[in-house]
Amino acid sequence: MRDYDDEPIQRPKWLGWLIIIGMVVVVLGLLNLGVRLYIGTPADQSTAQRMQEMVQQRPELAQGQAYMDGSDCMRCHGIDRKFVGPSFLQVADKYRGQNDATAYIARKIREGSVGVWGNTIMPRHPQVTQEQAEGMADWILAIPPKTGE
Ligand code: HEC
Repeated sequence: MRDYDDEPIQRPKWLGWLIIIGMVVVVLGLLNLGVRLYIGTPADQSTAQRMQEMVQQRPELAQGQAYMDGSDCMRCHGIDRKFVGPSFLQVADKYRGQNDATAYIARKIREGSVGVWGNTIMPRHPQVTQEQAEGMADWILAIPPKTGE
């Protein structure tokens, strides 16, 4: 008899806790996301900022940067972040020691690529001229490596 009487009172309490726990989980999830975004952004900015300084030191890079800005590259690549394709910092780190790096990257930009970084295809850019592609390649290769960390 007792158990039966208690039940209607116990149940709503339980539900209440369940809802509170659910909300806490959601809030923690949002906080986690917020912290990730917050931590992610300054890191991106710092490489981008150091790249801006580099362009000031080497004005010949400004043209390549303008070509990049005028193209669709940043839809799939970040300077510091991997999205659809590798980050340009990763690309720079991979090829900066290579003699033919400018020509190689310029060719990849114009002809597209697949299989080097994964199975996602980078589309061709036939509208980009050889001169523009080389300018972009030099800009990518000039991205300064990460210091410390
Ligand atoms: C639709 C998405 C997309 C766009 C737009 C795009 N890329 Fe890519 N890019 C990729 C993917 C995916 C890869 C990896 C391809 C692979 O694994 O071979 C890649 C790879 C690269 C590489 C490395 C190639 C290698 O052999 O290591 C360079 C350099 C590059 N992209 C530059 C550019 C530039 C410059 C632009 C703008 C003109 C651009 N990308 C636009 C998706 C894109």
